[in-house]
Amino acid sequence: MFFLLTSFVVVAVPYAIERFGLRVRFGLFALLFWLFVFQFVLIFAIDSLLQNLATVLPGWLESILTTLGGFAFVSIGITPVITLVLAAAYLLFALGQWLFDRDEKDQPTPQTHFTIAIDGPAASGKGTLARRIAEAYGYHHLDTGLTYRAVAKALMDQNMPLDDEFLAEKAARSVDLSKLDRTVLSAHDVGEAASRVAVMPAVRRALVAAQQGFATRPPGAVLDGRDIGTVVCPDAPVKLYITASPEARARRRYEEIKSNGGGANYEEILQDLTRRDARDMGRTDSPLKPAADAHLLDTTEMDIETAFLNAKTLIDQALAKNTH
Ligand code: C5P
Repeated sequence: MFFLLTSFVVVAVPYAIERFGLRVRFGLFALLFWLFVFQFVLIFAIDSLLQNLATVLPGWLESILTTLGGFAFVSIGITPVITLVLAAAYLLFALGQWLFDRDEKDQPTPQTHFTIAIDGPAASGKGTLARRIAEAYGYHHLDTGLTYRAVAKALMDQNMPLDDEFLAEKAARSVDLSKLDRTVLSAHDVGEAASRVAVMPAVRRALVAAQQGFATRPPGAVLDGRDIGTVVCPDAPVKLYITASPEARARRRYEEIKSNGGGANYEEILQDLTRRDARDMGRTDSPLKPAADAHLLDTTEMDIETAFLNAKTLIDQALAKNTH
């Protein structure tokens, strides 16, 4: 009975300990401790048996047995003590390990990189928002529109046709992300040409590969474009889709050109934007659309700071989830 009970304890204790997260190595302590108890019980059982026998045995045999029993008692009695010392040492070791492990587990897993995907039509405010977020969080920023513009510009500079997929793909493979010059690439005709080369799957494949490499830069990257949340970074923990009415976007573009001292016609800008939206949303490969899990932000009546604060709340929530 005693043996059954203790065996149960030997099995149940490590199991229970493991269930409570203390790791199975505590089981060895339980086993050693059980051995200690068992050895003691055994010694006392043998001792009392010898004492009972002594009363019925002749005197000479009793004295021999008592002498032998004394030796046995001393030698056997040492083993439970050794077992107890081992068990105590092991318990200390296991406790130390457990505390050390727990401290390690308490440390938030360091994030190597965090990606924020921002999509939306031209002049929706996504570029300004992306820059603001990247600056606030110390992340890298890539305006992926510039990569399509760089392809278009390379073809235009060499007087090459904009619809030759082979040449366009070659140009796309040579785009250097560290050498995208916004001043040169932001020209209106370059944007128009970019949306033409952007319909070609081979161009998209080459640029998307480069953009995906950029997205893994530590500590984080903000990418803005048309297909970031849907194609380039479908697993990004934060996806934003920025919209605004075509009129609001055309007005923004108009005022931007005016403030830079340029001449602009609001109606023409509106027409251009509408045409570009139709091409970007209607193409078969990676059309502009919000990812299923994107957060929509309509900036028609919203200033950049309010848009940033909205985005910040979402980003902070995702960051908190990522580190726990
Ligand atoms: O944003 P931006 O006006 O600089 O983009 C120029 C063109 O590049 C867009 O009209 C679109 O056709 C294309 N583009 C794209 N996918 C992206 C970014 C831009 O197709 N991720």
